[in-house]
Amino acid sequence: MKVLVTGGAGYIGSHAVLELLNNDYQVVVYDSLEMSTKVNLDEIEKMTGKTIDFVEGDILDGEKLTQSIKQYQPEAVMHFAAYKKVGESVENPEKYYRNNVLGAFNVLNVMKENKVDKFIFSSTCSLYGNAVSPIGEFAELHPINPYARSKMFVEGILNDYFTAYKISSVALRYFNAAGADISGKIGEEVKATANIIPLIMETLMGRREKLTLFGDQFNTADGTQERDYIHVTDLAKAHVLALKKLENSKGYHFYNLGTGVSTSNKKLIEIAEQLSGKKLNYEIVGARVGDPEVLYANATKAKEELGWVAQYNVQQILQSAWNWHSSR
Ligand SMILES: NC(=O)c1ccc[n+]([C@@H]2O[C@H](COP(=O)([O-])OP(=O)(O)OC[C@H]3O[C@@H](n4cnc5c(N)ncnc54)[C@H](O)[C@@H]3O)[C@@H](O)[C@H]2O)c1
Repeated sequence: MKVLVTGGAGYIGSHAVLELLNNDYQVVVYDSLEMSTKVNLDEIEKMTGKTIDFVEGDILDGEKLTQSIKQYQPEAVMHFAAYKKVGESVENPEKYYRNNVLGAFNVLNVMKENKVDKFIFSSTCSLYGNAVSPIGEFAELHPINPYARSKMFVEGILNDYFTAYKISSVALRYFNAAGADISGKIGEEVKATANIIPLIMETLMGRREKLTLFGDQFNTADGTQERDYIHVTDLAKAHVLALKKLENSKGYHFYNLGTGVSTSNKKLIEIAEQLSGKKLNYEIVGARVGDPEVLYANATKAKEELGWVAQYNVQQILQSAWNWHSSR
């Protein structure tokens, strides 16, 4: 089967491309390269000995998208292309609604016109806002910023597009994506991130002066926030399982992808210091308004319906991230 991967040059998308190729899917990447480069894709071609068709294009460019779908005739689309910075979405919601909502809408309409009926969507646990953990899929959706709302709106469209046009979809609601492929050859480009693990690694490497931690007075064991870190390869594997699901189960499906275990910021630092043998320079500042203290998933629905279970723990996540960052 051929799959068109929007945003496939980015962090999670490129790991999904590797997983697709390892499972004998053919891949066409459609990416504007606004937030990435082709470095991961070039590396994947070397690792697998396979060719990745690549189109440099914007998902808002309907003509180019149509042309690409007509040329490559994919049977499914994995849609990663979006912006992802929560703070920026608050300052500039137009940018986020345009790219994340209008962009996805555009992709779905081109699919509809060209009879492509399988769609896998990068959604997020931030749909649930400050819900009490463990968070299952039927927790109330209560996004608290434009980024999260942009993802919720797209999920609404997916529901409607199955009802009306029979485009089947799986929305995968990631918790905190982290780590790098275990080979150490592909990983997350730091220019695109505001996430704590790459920032810890960059600081340990001396590429940043210090790490800023937001708050140490939370109601947690060590006072710092706890999050559910999920290895990027575990996410990539879930995408392939989601695609398989759509081969025999039509509809709009949605799943949480997390480990069900939360780790505090201080614990991340402690593990990272141990495995790097270096001391991290960090400072603690005030907590950010509305930032939840603890978030972790209940991912049993993905286990029962996709047969997906996270394989990597936080120690392995940090080790793979360190291998990647320290090799660059
Ligand atoms: N990283 C996380 O922790 C996380 C968590 C939940 C959800 N997500 C979602 O997962 C997806 C992938 O995230 P990522 O971390 O790999 O981000 P990323 O920035 O590394 O990758 C996104 C890719 O999409 C491309 N892109 C963006 N806008 C585009 C457009 N208009 N046209 C074509 N290409 C475009 C970028 O160039 C980039 O290669 C995003 O939809 C994000 O919202 C990420």
